[in-house]
This record gives sequence, structure tokens and C-alpha cells, in this order.
Amino acid sequence: MERTLSLIKPDGVAKNLIGEVIKRFETAGIKIVAMKKMQLTKSQAEGFYAVHKERPFFGSLIDFMTSGPIVAMVLEGDDVIAKNRKLMGATNFKEAEEGTIRREFATDIEKNVVHGSDAPETAAFEINHFFNNMEIVG
Ligand code: PPS
Repeated sequence: MERTLSLIKPDGVAKNLIGEVIKRFETAGIKIVAMKKMQLTKSQAEGFYAVHKERPFFGSLIDFMTSGPIVAMVLEGDDVIAKNRKLMGATNFKEAEEGTIRREFATDIEKNVVHGSDAPETAAFEINHFFNNMEIVG
């Protein structure tokens, strides 16, 4: 059994897509074992995206991720990291497969509705960034 971190980004929350995203997880047999709505501070967002701090879009990404509330979730299931990324679609919505969340709802490379961990090590770091053990209910 694997776990991953999912975020519904500020654009997804603003577009009332919380239910839509959760429905897709549940329909795919993915279990939500933790969930909260929150407003990231600048330092929380910078810590979360620290691996990207040298990238040219870093400042813009931090501004966007702190521009409004997000929903953070821990997802659990067999192969859930890959399953979640398949449901999300490619980072750039123009390259995302038909029927994926980003293809259907993203409006540009930055405002791409959702985030999902890309590997077990990043999932562990990212889950720990948002949740403590008592908040995760299997
Ligand atoms: S990586 O490391 O190559 O996989 O990077 P990538 O997944 O492409 O992008 C990392 C996160 O940065 C966001 N991103 C951008 N934001 C703003 N402008 C531009 N040009 C841009 N390119 C990528 C992208 O949405 C990723 O966010 P997360 O939350 O990780 O999905």
C-alpha cells in the first residue's frame, strides 16, 4: 500500500473543483486518509517547493500558491503515486491526455489545478510537510 500527497491548488479551489477532484479519486478506488483546507504562508510554500528554488518561475509559483486557499490530501492505495499522476495529466495541460483533470480544467502551465507527488521519497517529504501522524486516518 502506497501513499501520496495531493493538492488542489488555488485555481482549482476558486473554480469550485474540490468535489470534482475528490469524485475522480473515489471513482478510481483511491482512499483519502487525510484532508484539510488551508492558506499557505510564503515560507510554507517556499519550503514545499524548495527543490525548484533556482527555476525561473519559482517566484511566480510561490505567489500563485499563496494567492488563495488550497486543499491538501493524503491518498492511499496500490500504486497510488502513478494512479494519481495519471488522473492529473501532464504538468502542461496542453500535453495532458484527454479526460485528465489538467486537460479538462487547467488554464495555463502555472494554474494547473492539482499537484501530486512524483515518487515515494518526495511523497514522504510532502506528506510530512502538511500532516502529522494523528491527522492520517487509514
Ligand atoms: S520537474 O521538476 O521537471 O518535474 O518540474 P515540473 O513538474 O515541470 O514543474 C514543477 C512545478 O512547477 C510548476 N511549473 C511552473 N510554474 C509556473 N510557471 C512555469 N513556467 C512552470 N513550469 C512548471 C509546475 O506546475 C509544477 O508544480 P507542481 O505543484 O509540482 O505540480
